[in-house]
Amino acid sequence: MLRLLTSVFLLCSSLAALAAPLHVESPGKALSVEIDTDPDGRPSYRVLRDGKPVIASSRLGFMLADAAKLERNLVLGNPRTRSFDETWEQPWGERRLIRNHYNQLRVTLTEKVAPGRSLDVVFRVYDDGVGFRYEFPDQPQLKEVKISEELTEFNIAGEATAWWNQAFGSNRAEYLYQRTPIEQVGDAQTPITLRTIDGLHLSIHEAALVDYSGMTLTRSEGRRLKAALTPGSGTFAKVERSAPFNTPWRTIQIGQRAGDLVESSLILNLNAPNTLGDVSWVKPMKYVGVWWAMHLGKKTWGSGPDHGATTANVMRHIDFAARHHLGGVLVEGWNIGWDGDWFGNGQDFDFSKPYPDYDLTRLAAYARSKGIRLIGHNETSADAAHYEAQMEAAFGLYQKLGIDAIKTGYVAAAGQARVIGRDGKVHYGWHEGQDMVNHAQRVVDAAARHHIAVDAHEPVKDTGLRRTYPNFLTREGSRGMEYNAWGEPGNPPEHEVNLVFTRLLAGPMDFTPGIFRMQTRPGARVSTTLAKQLALYVVLYSPLQMAADLLDNYEANPEPFKFIEDVAVDWEQTRVLNGEVGDYVTIVRKQRGAEDWFLGSITDEQPRTLQARLDFLTPGRRYTAQIYRDADDAHWAKNPEAVKIQSRQVTSADTLTLKLAPGGGQAIRFVAH
Ligand code: NOJ
Repeated sequence: MLRLLTSVFLLCSSLAALAAPLHVESPGKALSVEIDTDPDGRPSYRVLRDGKPVIASSRLGFMLADAAKLERNLVLGNPRTRSFDETWEQPWGERRLIRNHYNQLRVTLTEKVAPGRSLDVVFRVYDDGVGFRYEFPDQPQLKEVKISEELTEFNIAGEATAWWNQAFGSNRAEYLYQRTPIEQVGDAQTPITLRTIDGLHLSIHEAALVDYSGMTLTRSEGRRLKAALTPGSGTFAKVERSAPFNTPWRTIQIGQRAGDLVESSLILNLNAPNTLGDVSWVKPMKYVGVWWAMHLGKKTWGSGPDHGATTANVMRHIDFAARHHLGGVLVEGWNIGWDGDWFGNGQDFDFSKPYPDYDLTRLAAYARSKGIRLIGHNETSADAAHYEAQMEAAFGLYQKLGIDAIKTGYVAAAGQARVIGRDGKVHYGWHEGQDMVNHAQRVVDAAARHHIAVDAHEPVKDTGLRRTYPNFLTREGSRGMEYNAWGEPGNPPEHEVNLVFTRLLAGPMDFTPGIFRMQTRPGARVSTTLAKQLALYVVLYSPLQMAADLLDNYEANPEPFKFIEDVAVDWEQTRVLNGEVGDYVTIVRKQRGAEDWFLGSITDEQPRTLQARLDFLTPGRRYTAQIYRDADDAHWAKNPEAVKIQSRQVTSADTLTLKLAPGGGQAIRFVAH
């Protein structure tokens, strides 16, 4: 349950005289923002840290599809400031308490020529970053707003290295991260991560993407990144809205250390509070599934002799989950529609009708009797229109059967989503276009009405909506484990360390870790050690965390599997002990509702020796550290499964030396006495 823990302090003022540039500082004065106009009335903003520009003068404004652009002849007026300080509680998450502390400056931009349209720009300045959005008021001159492009820029002030993922490729969000000088960035998805020549770390993204299209970035010149909105479906403009409305927040997280970006809650803070009320029915959990066998080519989604989703196979998974205290079982390929070319035939899926060898009612009852939650799988092949026609009936059935989590999927090439447009007709569109953003919202709303939690694959990117809709548990939205089964290439050893400082800054990821047999298919492998697979449960945050391997591999390796059994999925606190983007990271998290801590440390292809000071542990308390580390000769390519398990007594005064093999990692559970 969300509670307001401290008082809210609001202050409104109106500055008497308008001395440009307008200026607002963060509460601790680390960051400041200036808003100005040039002699032609083009508005711009700058972000400074300790008085030095981080974002140099960057434009604000819009191109409209059926009206004159909103980008010059604008005057700044009516500045209003406000301070806000609140600590709120997450119902589940990577930390329980979050402080939302900012200074806000709202300013109105008004055209000094006809038709005299206006819009507000609102800046919220935190010590760990900045969020700003546009607010279109109700006005007779601009009732229906058709946005053909947003002119928002992020002009990086100095030299920087960028970690970025290409936008508008056919595999949607699923590309390997590129590391280049900022001057070599092309069309990039967000979040994009930057390290400046001064060692500062930046992440540019967006918060609260609602009824709008997803923002990508394109480099227009030099170090200047410019918003490039996802195209609309059919012949719609990129965004079409009736005023009044707000855009999503454009966000710039700024930290000294790479780990500061991970510790920042800016994206969540810029989202609206929980609108669902009591969400005690939303439960973080670990799960196994009828899944990896299909990616390995050992079982099929479709019917036939190798069908994975049979009653007997799912019963085995339920029994295993119950025996090992895992919360759930994911079943893919249970429903009619997988036979033939399921990539292209989304309209074949029936989301209520099981294959004859899958006894849905019996399995749901069996799972319930064992305290296990079945996760229903709804692959749509991006036929969102077809899914929506069946969604309500399907969710009603799941609720009746006690199935309170679903995994949705939108496999299709980018631009090929079949979606219901604003005209009520079906169009083809992009996965992050406005119509698909609205589809995702309708799914999460319908799921909430039926007390169902959602894990979306091939999703709209995460922009922190889990704060507003806590049943929106997790998403994929990048290359997950499955690429190690069939990807060409698979994920390289640096992939997960890139994810921590890029994709994961947007929100939780259903990466599906926990593979113990690294050889996957002929010529394909998981490029990590086994100890690193364990560390991923701590490092890659998700409230739904899969134990992705085949049950046989867990049954054959009960000692390392113990860590997966023990590791928590809901956290009181999270801290990043060390890390560099794409190189290595060590994260510690305290279990929610318990005194135990967990540590995960991972590296890229380089071996590392890292020091972990245990000063996060409660002083004066003794802990048993259960250590799962790379064996001395472990190596992601040559000897990946060699793991050593040992335990020792520690206190908060100790420092542990973590030795990570090439492509390796280390996982530790600190059991409090
Ligand atoms: C892609 C998803 O990421 C994967 O988890 C799923 O098994 C397949 N689609 C089939 O739906």
